Amino acid sequence: MTLNKHKDIIINNYTDYDEDSRLIKDRAHNMEYLTTMRYIQKFLKPGAKILEIGAATGRYSIALAKMGYDVTAVDLTPKYVEIMKRKSRKLKNFQCMVGDALDLSMFKDNSFDMVLNLGPMYHLFNKKDKNQAIKETIRVAKKNGVCMFAYISSATIMTTYGLRHHKCYDLLTRCMDKEGRVADIPEEIFAAFYVEDFKKLFAKTNTKYITNVSADGIGPVLRELIEDLPKKDYQAFLEWHFRTCERLDQQGYSNHLLYICRKVK
Ligand SMILES: C[S@@+](CC[C@H](N)C(=O)[O-])C[C@H]1O[C@@H](n2cnc3c(N)ncnc32)[C@H](O)[C@@H]1O
Repeated sequence: MTLNKHKDIIINNYTDYDEDSRLIKDRAHNMEYLTTMRYIQKFLKPGAKILEIGAATGRYSIALAKMGYDVTAVDLTPKYVEIMKRKSRKLKNFQCMVGDALDLSMFKDNSFDMVLNLGPMYHLFNKKDKNQAIKETIRVAKKNGVCMFAYISSATIMTTYGLRHHKCYDLLTRCMDKEGRVADIPEEIFAAFYVEDFKKLFAKTNTKYITNVSADGIGPVLRELIEDLPKKDYQAFLEWHFRTCERLDQQGYSNHLLYICRKVK
């Protein structure tokens, strides 16, 4: 099934969902934001031109524009683009539009210092579309520009969704192969990857691997424990997460992973 046939299901899913508050609703969700933002800022130079694809209501994009960067934000869901427009009225260095990660033809090749693909990879269900979204993201990045791709871990579909929603049996028997790899099932809305499978998608691209980050760590699994931590312990836990989030042994916990690479030619 191509994204076109599936587009309405994704748009309806997000239109009914409060994406605007997802990253701030509790500490576990906020870990994803804080970690991703740290890596975005690590690779940004003053005056950088940034494109975010799948920007939703602009949680990252509008914050980056307020820091002074020149930001363009694209999202598939019209309701979210309207919210971004409302929230960014006073920002002259911010623009946003409805658009699809599979077709960024409104942008020329080599246009942006940083391209953030933070959402579309969650909803692509065949190899052709996955490769196309990656190709388009890299195409619009400048040479030496940094591209970041968020993706969902095949491992934590069971430890978060399965456990919390009593779907372990259903996941194991209907949605997974013998290695626990989540199958591409568009009706399930979310696509997931093992780290090694995601990395393989870049084998033939003109990029150099930088790192792969565990964005929310064990946060989604231990949400209630983390929420109840005294402030001092939460700060220490967060600092430990930042220190260890590039380690391979931390990646399996994480619900959201972040692949970072540089365009080389
Ligand atoms: C989970 S939200 C992530 C939003 C935000 N970037 C973040 O990281 O919190 C995924 C977003 O990607 C958008 N999206 C899904 N498929 C897309 C596509 N093919 N092109 C552009 N946006 C897409 C959805 O509308 C939604 O707003």
